[in-house]
Amino acid sequence: MEKVYTVNEVREQVKAWRREGLTVGLVPTMGYLHEGHASLIKKAVEQNDKVVVSVFLNPTQFGPTEDLEAYPRDFEADCKLCESIGAAMVFHPEPSEMYAPDFCTWVDMDVLSKTLCGKSRPIHFRGVCTVVSKLFNIVTPDRAYFGQKDAQQLAIIRRMVRDLNMDIEIVGCPIVREEDGLAKSSRNTYLNEEERKAALILSKAVFLGKKMVEDGEASAAAVKEAMIKKIESEPMAKIDYVEAVDGLSMQPVEEIKAPVLVAMAVYIGKTRLIDNFIVE
Ligand code: PAJ
Repeated sequence: MEKVYTVNEVREQVKAWRREGLTVGLVPTMGYLHEGHASLIKKAVEQNDKVVVSVFLNPTQFGPTEDLEAYPRDFEADCKLCESIGAAMVFHPEPSEMYAPDFCTWVDMDVLSKTLCGKSRPIHFRGVCTVVSKLFNIVTPDRAYFGQKDAQQLAIIRRMVRDLNMDIEIVGCPIVREEDGLAKSSRNTYLNEEERKAALILSKAVFLGKKMVEDGEASAAAVKEAMIKKIESEPMAKIDYVEAVDGLSMQPVEEIKAPVLVAMAVYIGKTRLIDNFIVE
């Protein structure tokens, strides 16, 4: 497996693969990889001849008071994992390789990026759309892989690809959880022992909401109310949002009629965690 640090080296390698008629899959990540990321890479390895994993802690998607500096990193462990599951290349650029000092071109989105996480993280999805567009232009993959863990991000990337006519198939992958239900996340490392226990309230609320919908509850308000009550039973939890939105437009719905995304962001101490379920 190759470790590549510059845009030009990626381009040369991908061109060589293309000359051989090989297909290319891309898995964009910010590193500190866990089994959630691994599930995307495995799926990409199944579906493509060559898989590129990008490991880039993208500064433009973090707000000034967010956790860019504290975000965990372990590039050597990331490479080992990627190699062990069959990735052909890890692309790990410096921020200066991705952003010239006078960089001023952005990919931004209305509507979908204004709700849920976009409310409390106003510049986040502009940074995500911009860096993902850049990675798509650098790697020119046939397919790119994103997790349902970040369901709004997945919906936004699908919309960006459609709206801007990008010739890339977006593959969504299910949420990978710890045995006790907590959705795997690089940010789980911020949690101390007590917070780690309290964090279980997110998946408990998700499972409760999902069960209510499966049992026939169609009122978004009723499902949200029950989930909020559940989360509020945990003293360490502070809700950012619990919302039911249309699965394509990310706008709030009153009736749970597929496709619907029921998503939440909850602070456990200082750590902001997200979780969700989709009604298909
Ligand atoms: P990051 O948080 O590293 O996540 C990379 C990919 O892994 C995302 O598509 C995310 O949804 C997926 N993922 C994370 N945890 C998961 C889990 N428990 N189960 C399934 N998939 C999971 O998302 C980003 O990075 C960035 O915003 C990025 C797209 C790379 C742009 O910078």
